[in-house]
Amino acid sequence: AEDLRNHLPIEAMFNSERQAVQKIHQHPLPMIHVDAFLYDDDFVDSLCEEGKMSRSYCTECGSYKTASLEFISHSFSLMELKFLYQHVLPDLTGKVVVDVGSRLGAVLFAGYLYSSASQLYGVEMNAEFCQLQEMMVTKYQFIDRIKVVHADICTQASLLQKADVVVMNNVFEYFLNRQEQARAWEFIACNVRKRGSLLVTVPSLKESLSKLQVNIQLSQWVEEMQLNYDVYMEKDADREALEQIHLYKIL
Ligand SMILES: C[S@@+](CC[C@H](N)C(=O)[O-])C[C@H]1O[C@@H](n2cnc3c(N)ncnc32)[C@H](O)[C@@H]1O
Repeated sequence: AEDLRNHLPIEAMFNSERQAVQKIHQHPLPMIHVDAFLYDDDFVDSLCEEGKMSRSYCTECGSYKTASLEFISHSFSLMELKFLYQHVLPDLTGKVVVDVGSRLGAVLFAGYLYSSASQLYGVEMNAEFCQLQEMMVTKYQFIDRIKVVHADICTQASLLQKADVVVMNNVFEYFLNRQEQARAWEFIACNVRKRGSLLVTVPSLKESLSKLQVNIQLSQWVEEMQLNYDVYMEKDADREALEQIHLYKIL
């Protein structure tokens, strides 16, 4: 994370993410992009103290009426990654993990260090984020088990078909329009079909699909597995964030 921070602007976004940026500008209330993998709460506090970041915005210029800014992260935090690999997923020895939309590579790096998965694939459509991930994979010698694929996930049918675990953390919502999201979800539902394989999503499938016009019969595709959000006892536990993580078994 420290290394990646030095290669990115504070918002951890590239100009090449045009669509996302456009969408954000349509957002009715101000929000700030803070990547939770790069900046934990203590780090954000110190940036606020230095005046480099703010947790609130002025609702009426010149007055002291302020409101809290909405924070949005495009990566899992370290806490979420530990919860994922240490409490949500089973032993991954010999298994293939695919992170759909791998961005900075947080899911891949954590999977390398916290699991025995034999292969961890990251599929990312943004070329600059792929370069960044490749740089880290080479530098930290993760190359034997991590592979980064620069592609739209909708071209990766065979990879999805062989995956034992597919991770989808807020992949499409901020990056694709509604029609593209619907198409991408239908592609996922057609190709993540290996019986007994696992699908991890943030937010729930029900929530992601509710705003879209898709023909996906959830009850025939997956079974939701109940998670125990109380098992994560560390001091940085953020239960609200953990509760966004959902696990499904493919039927
Ligand atoms: C919220 S980030 C997830 C980051 C990472 N998986 C994590 O959890 O830390 C979503 C990423 O998905 C990528 N993405 C969106 N649609 C995609 C698609 N159709 N194919 C490949 N990547 C996609 C975006 O460029 C973005 O970097």
